[in-house]
Amino acid sequence: MITKAPGIEDIFPDKSAQWNHIITSARESFELFNFREIVIPVLEFTDLFVRGIGTDTDIVSKEMFTFEDRGGRSMTLRPEGTASVIRAYCENGEYNRRNICKFYYLGPMFRAEKPQRGRLRQFNQLGAELIGEDDPYYDYEIIALVDTISKKIGLTSYSILLNSIGCKEDRRRYTDDLKKYYSGHLTELCESCKTRLDKNPLRLLDCKETRCAALKDGAPVITDYLCEDCSLHYGKVKNYLDKAGILYTETPYLVRGLDYYCRTTFEFVTDVLGGQNAFAGGGRYNQLVEELGGAPTPAVGFAAGMERMMLMCSEETFKKYTLDAYIVHTEQSFEKAIEIARTLRDAGLRVDIDPVAKSFKAQMKRCDRENASFALIIGEDELSEACCTVKNTTNGEQKKIAFDKLAQTLYNELQRSNYTG
Ligand code: HAM
Repeated sequence: MITKAPGIEDIFPDKSAQWNHIITSARESFELFNFREIVIPVLEFTDLFVRGIGTDTDIVSKEMFTFEDRGGRSMTLRPEGTASVIRAYCENGEYNRRNICKFYYLGPMFRAEKPQRGRLRQFNQLGAELIGEDDPYYDYEIIALVDTISKKIGLTSYSILLNSIGCKEDRRRYTDDLKKYYSGHLTELCESCKTRLDKNPLRLLDCKETRCAALKDGAPVITDYLCEDCSLHYGKVKNYLDKAGILYTETPYLVRGLDYYCRTTFEFVTDVLGGQNAFAGGGRYNQLVEELGGAPTPAVGFAAGMERMMLMCSEETFKKYTLDAYIVHTEQSFEKAIEIARTLRDAGLRVDIDPVAKSFKAQMKRCDRENASFALIIGEDELSEACCTVKNTTNGEQKKIAFDKLAQTLYNELQRSNYTG
């Protein structure tokens, strides 16, 4: 048997109600905030992510699925959506059409991480990018959007971590001091952090190794290095959140694992997921458009992991999938049964039928397994009387209904039972 590759999952129909609920809640929320969908490719030139995300990040240095195509070009399965959205924005000259672009996207991303609960190699993100404005209102709007999506989905136990990592100049001054601090603890660092120290000291704050994580507590904090503009910007983001009653925890070591960020960074975290506690993250990135060949254009955005949100949803919130009717027939009534199935489906009812006329008992068992609201029995008597015996599987009531009244009667009954719960 060929199995799926490690870190890659199937979603079976028993989970798809939950899956679709997440997608529907997200789409509805995106529209509430006037974001429009952009569909971006799964495969891009590797260079896009190297330049966009940063050579020294974990994603680019060790997690990308990269291969050479038949033309000898280096291609990569997208590890995230932001770089592709910005590439598309620049390539299609979107900036000529509107000052502010509000895009959202959904789909699979690929990172060769060590698989564990909530950490996959193929996972799905839903995300949004707002391009063209530096106003702190928009940083607030993105955070409010993630909060709205989370609430619409029904997620309850989560909190928001917030930080500002300032502008390039702030980070230069900060990383100088960070280097000095960690240089004094060189022997205590893990091997990867020793090499990161010169190239990209901010990444040391992300390291999950216990000895490096412990050192973080004594490190300088970025918010002490913010210039007046960045400090003001951060203050305004917090002010908008306060006014909206959106609670957050200031977390000065939250630098995020991608190099494109500046100013606001945030994460939505929960205890429900164990090791993988962030289910959404994002922030401002004012240099990426320029980095990828466009004119200097500020932007802010987020992405959320759909599998992680699935793990946070309680199953009780979802209606179990039900079939409206299952048709039980005999060999002689099969032709009529097909006709009835077609009429009912045309009327918008969910109907199933087995072409082989098994025993009455076997068909009723299948009706039960399919969780059908009604069993429609068409035997010899019913055929001669031009009617169906309709059994309500919830209360066991049975009545005969003429074929030509069936669709309307079932529809009314289903409406009534939906209404009464
Ligand atoms: P990220 O924090 O790398 O940010 O990913 C966002 C979310 O994707 C995470 O919070 C997590 O829920 C999910 N995720 C990431 N890796 C995995 C994995 N291996 N398995 C399962 N879920 C995962 C970004 O991707 C940025 N592009 C977000 C952004 C958009 N920033 C600005 N705009």
